[in-house]
Order: sequence, then structure tokens, then C-alpha cells
Amino acid sequence: MKNNETNIVVGVTGGIAAYKSPDLVRRLQEQGFVVRVVMTAGAENFITATTLQAVSGHPVNNDLFDNEAEAAMGHIELAKWADIILIAPATANCLSKIAHGLADDLLTSLILASSAQLMLAPAMNQQMWKNKAIISNAESLKQRGILLFGPDAGEQACGDVGLGRMREPSQLVEALVQWQQSASASDESEVSGILDGVKLLLTAGPTVEAIDPVRYLSNHSSGKMGYAIAEAALTAGAEVTLVSGPVSLTAPPAATMVAVKSAKEMLLAVQQHLAQSDVFIGCAAVADYAPSQVARQKIKKNADSMQIELTRNPDIIAWVGSQKERPYIVGFAAESENLEAYAKKKLQDKNLDLICANDISDTSIGFNSDNNAISIFNASGRQKQIKSMPKAKIAEVIIKEIAKNLN
Ligand code: C5P
Repeated sequence: MKNNETNIVVGVTGGIAAYKSPDLVRRLQEQGFVVRVVMTAGAENFITATTLQAVSGHPVNNDLFDNEAEAAMGHIELAKWADIILIAPATANCLSKIAHGLADDLLTSLILASSAQLMLAPAMNQQMWKNKAIISNAESLKQRGILLFGPDAGEQACGDVGLGRMREPSQLVEALVQWQQSASASDESEVSGILDGVKLLLTAGPTVEAIDPVRYLSNHSSGKMGYAIAEAALTAGAEVTLVSGPVSLTAPPAATMVAVKSAKEMLLAVQQHLAQSDVFIGCAAVADYAPSQVARQKIKKNADSMQIELTRNPDIIAWVGSQKERPYIVGFAAESENLEAYAKKKLQDKNLDLICANDISDTSIGFNSDNNAISIFNASGRQKQIKSMPKAKIAEVIIKEIAKNLN
């Protein structure tokens, strides 16, 4: 998708940051995007339709019941025309309306009627951004694959200091261009058939390590990334065996599913299925340690403190990497610092062919989220960066990378 083929609806809502919207429109056009502006009634308190019309070069739509505007390009037509809808600034009210699927004006109706990628640049008072309702609404938007850019920290128009400033237009355009580049790197039609006949073994989800019949040690892995890879591999024509720790997801029916709990069980399942595999992907968040002894009976809480001795779990992917006849191996590395250095070290130490590293210090992606952003390194150190996008899309990029390297 080239910029000059990409249609963007810029939605402007009623916040003081609306004064930055003409600059945003201009910068988007400079990048070759085709821009139409929709503004809410609230936005008109901060900026005029005439200004945005002059900058965008098109009439500005602002009323659901404006017959003239509807005749020129009706809101359903506009909804279908848009590849991207970017709301900047997005007020607390607008963000919450979208989170709940309300459609009481042109902009929110357009959003419901559109399949375009929705992006929001929230801007509001810092206390509003901290409000529990807003936190939960923003979280629900992210879970649905809607991208939130910002807000940023700093001094606010009201004099407060904190998180709530709209991200600068130049940075918004940069984020959008990056998103677009990664989105075009992945196209499902390109995945279809690229792993025809390939046998792929995959671990996913967490492992749980029993302490006694009731308690266990585990981690926050949701399994979403691994299951998305299983889906993408099936679309690519692979025969998929999915060895999964306990998750609340449904395995793709076409995959052979092996449910396990502990790391030791996971290793056993991998050992049983490895011989027939061309590709092994270790996506599971395997617990590094397990209790040395599992108490047969529920441990009573008599003492003020207790100690649990832990023993290192087997490293499943490293075991696969150590085999003489080994498949093509893909690992994951979740790091909170020194992403590149740690990921490359894991690639080498565990004898992998490819490693997908993600930055877990960014809480908007990764564990339990529907989106992820990763850097892929191969054995010769080459890097491919994939910006935040739905895990299903990331999975397609990984599958494409595997197919390219297998060939
Ligand atoms: O936990 P760590 O960062 O070392 O994980 C890196 C890679 O190794 C991941 O692909 C993970 O699935 C795999 N791994 C494994 N067995 C372990 C620990 C990690 O297969 N015990």
C-alpha cells in the first residue's frame, strides 16, 4: 500500500489540542496520504471548519444530517473510502463513546460503519486520563486492535502537568507511516500455501509447576501469540502440532493439539513429536524453575514463613537445538532491557535459526495483549523490525520469514 493510495479520515474532536489538527493534516498530505476531515460539534469550539477545509482541500464533514455534505460524500461512502481513521485529538468523551460502540454524531457513526484501521491520539486533562473509566475504556480499545498513540506527558493547557498532551503531529505521522510499512509487510494472501507440506511443531502458553495439589507457580502468558502462529501456519499449508500449556483459548481445529501442564510434560511432548518436524517454534513461556518436591497433601499455613526449593526446568528449545538432526528452530525472547544483545545471545546459546524479541517494558503490547511488536534476528544478525500490530498479523510476518529461510 503506497501512501498516495491510502485514504485517511482525520477525526477532530473538541479539545484544545484541535489547534494542532491543521498541522497534522498538512503533514499527512506531505507524506502523500489522501485526507478528508470530519469534525465534531465540540471541535468547532476550538477550530473552524473553514481552516480545516482550506488545509485539506476538501469540504469538512461535521453533521450527520447535512444533506449537502451527504450528497457530496455520504457518511457510509466516507466510511468505505477510508483505509485509516485517525482521531486527533481524541477527547475522553470520544474515546469512551467508541469503546462502547455509541454512534450519536457523524464521526462515531462513521467509525461503526467502517472497516478501516482506527487510531486515536488521546488528549485530555491528566486527571481524566487517570480516571478508572478511561483506563478501562482505553484498555478495551487496545484489546480490539485499535491503536492508541500517546497521550504524552508535559504541561497542559489548563496548567496541570502530567500524561494527557496530544502526541505531536510530526510524531503521529511517523507512527502512522511505520504502522503502514509493517502492515504492508504482511498480507494474508501472500501466506497462503507458502508452507505446503511442512510439518511444524509449536509450543505455546505458560507452564504451571505444582507446589502441592492446590498451588502452583506460573506466569502471565496468554498463549495468544502461539495460537496466532498456529493459525497462520495452517493458512500457509503446514501440518501443525500445538503443544500448549493451560490457556483459555480454543486451539485451531485443524491443528493436532497436545495439552500439557508442566515444563517436564512439555519437553516430553516435544520429544515425542520432534522426529517428524521440519520446523520447531518455541513460543511457550516455560517456567525456568519448578518446586524440587511437590507436596502430596495441601501444605498447611502453620509457620509464619516458608521456603520452597526450586530446581531448574529443562530448556526445551535448547534441547531441540542440541539434536543432531534438528529442524529449523524459531525462538522468542521477552526482554525488558538490552533487547538486541540478549536476544542474539539466546539465539547463539540455544542454537536457534531465528529469534523474535519483544520489549516487555512496553505494557501496551506483549503478554495478554492482542497486539505485539517484535524484532526478528537471524543467525547472521540481520534484523527485521515489526511495529505494534495485531498478533495475527505478526504471526503472518513470522511465517513468511520462516518460509523464506526454509527455501
Ligand atoms: O525464557 P527464555 O527467555 O530463555 O526463552 C527463550 C526461548 O526459549 C523461548 O522461545 C522459550 O519458548 C524457550 N524456552 C524453552 N524452555 C525453557 C525456557 C525457554 O523452550 N525452559
